[in-house]
Amino acid sequence: MAEQVRVGGLRGIMMRGPGLTQTLPFYEDMWGLSLAHREDGTAYLRGTGTEAFLYGLTEGLVFGIDYVHFSMPDRAEMDALHAQVTAKGACVLGAPAEFDDWAGGYGFEILDPDNRRLRFRTEARELDDRSDWAMPRKVSHVVLNTPDMEGVQEWYADVLGFRVSDYSADQMVFLRCNSNHHSIALVRAHYPSVNHVAFEVPTINEFMRAIGRMKQKGHVPSWGPGRHGPGDNPFAYFVSPSGFVIEFTTELQQIDEAQHEAQVWPRDVPEKMDQWMTAGPPTPAQRAVMQGRPDPGWPELRAEGGK
Ligand SMILES: [Fe+2]
Repeated sequence: MAEQVRVGGLRGIMMRGPGLTQTLPFYEDMWGLSLAHREDGTAYLRGTGTEAFLYGLTEGLVFGIDYVHFSMPDRAEMDALHAQVTAKGACVLGAPAEFDDWAGGYGFEILDPDNRRLRFRTEARELDDRSDWAMPRKVSHVVLNTPDMEGVQEWYADVLGFRVSDYSADQMVFLRCNSNHHSIALVRAHYPSVNHVAFEVPTINEFMRAIGRMKQKGHVPSWGPGRHGPGDNPFAYFVSPSGFVIEFTTELQQIDEAQHEAQVWPRDVPEKMDQWMTAGPPTPAQRAVMQGRPDPGWPELRAEGGK
């Protein structure tokens, strides 16, 4: 049997919602992203690395995810991934082709079992490297709420080659596609929605400075700073003007495939939930905002005549 094709990495995410592009100044003036490109109803925000965009804002009727954006190393791997997902019976939105959007390159899209659109792109537009103190450099991970955690976990493993890095009790599973402890995590929930998107800053000193920048501008963390058990990454969560949860993080655990064994992290041992014991458990308000707003996904929205 041929070896399983694995997704290369997480590039970022395109968010969707009414009035979303009006929140652009928040991300530019406070969060530390820069506008890379703007066109009808869509803003592309870049970090300090070469990725064309980390986070996109696109106008739409319903708050949620327009697409989660992944990389593949080259066209051969892209074609192999397409053959694999087709053979596995995934809902594929066309054959690999050139993208006609601003980020360009070559790839294809599929829907996951919750009707989330996933876009795979290689040969994307690359920007100049702009190392800048305490600014987000890349998207670390995207956390998804799902009513079928086991089924969706199995799908990401079988169809896309993700591996389980750890569990948080029976409520959450962390999935990796490369050495990063998790690029995607799933949370058991009542309906599909986005839980949060995490942005990586290069060092812990810059992580604290980024929190300080937000605080100076009147925006304190809704949860954190603290340090997670699974993934070992420091966290500080904020709520965006449109109600999305975003996170600063750094120092995410790197996985040695030869050594790593997934473990179940308990939720009733405070120091395993927050190693520093600075953040404590999330408040009910934090839990509520992380539940997100129900996102019917891609095809339902199209059927209703809007994205
Ligand atoms: Fe996170």
